[in-house]
Amino acid sequence: MLPTNEIVLDRALEVAIDVARQAGALLRERWGRVLRVEHKGEINLVTEADREAERLIVERLRAAFPHHRVLAEEGTNHDGEAEYRWIVDPLDGTTNYARGYPMFCVSVALERAGRVVLGVVYQPILDELFVARRGGGAWLNGDRLRVSTTSGLEKAFLATGFPYDRALFDEPLRQWSAFSYRALAVRRDGAAALNLCYVAAGRFDGFWERPLQPWDMAAGSLMVEEAGGQVSDFRAAGDFLRRREIVASNRRLHSAMLAVLAETATS
Ligand code: IPD
Ligand code: CA
Ligand code: CA
Repeated sequence: MLPTNEIVLDRALEVAIDVARQAGALLRERWGRVLRVEHKGEINLVTEADREAERLIVERLRAAFPHHRVLAEEGTNHDGEAEYRWIVDPLDGTTNYARGYPMFCVSVALERAGRVVLGVVYQPILDELFVARRGGGAWLNGDRLRVSTTSGLEKAFLATGFPYDRALFDEPLRQWSAFSYRALAVRRDGAAALNLCYVAAGRFDGFWERPLQPWDMAAGSLMVEEAGGQVSDFRAAGDFLRRREIVASNRRLHSAMLAVLAETATS
């Protein structure tokens, strides 16, 4: 017989895949139509699609697992004592979504006792479903994922992102400049959760960004680990979710990326 936790995880994975696909279908359906776009900050957008997708995901997670905690970007925070906590970004890449740029996804992760154990990321336009289970590998539409084998920063294809607060731009601009001079190329395409999955898939060799929120990183970070990559905060420590920053790489490039980040750090 399987231990209880494994049974919970089997069921949780089924539900996570199902809700990510359903929320993705909702986003795909509304994509390209005229949307009401609001500003959460000067350059931080939210659309009705973000909120509808969150409502759908949270309702279904609560129905399937009434005792689990749920944290999601657009305001959900069902807290408590439960050891399981869902961490959800109903739409990662909102600015892209609002402008019809197809770089966005739904991100759903499950933490057990503070450690991410499941991650599901769905990109509905390309119909790409990324799934990771701790100890069980990372998969894209059923195919096993492996990080790239690139070594040497000069050959690296990297990605990053910028915060919504322009007052915080100095450090990321220094990083952008330092990596651009040393790497093969650097991309900034506005969907952190998807960028992490691309590291897992070997499309990118590495990704870094701060500050980020747990829902931007949780699912994608497990994807990278389960594809053989490395994830840490900017100082090589493991507690990146709480420190709100991440460096993810194919492992071979990790120390070189950390060195550039140390050189360009504000503090
Ligand atoms: C944002 C995206 C973006 C990153 C921002 C995130 P959102 O998430 O992941 O790539 O640079 O830091 O907040 O707001 O589109 O869910
Ligand atoms: Ca996000
Ligand atoms: Ca979001």
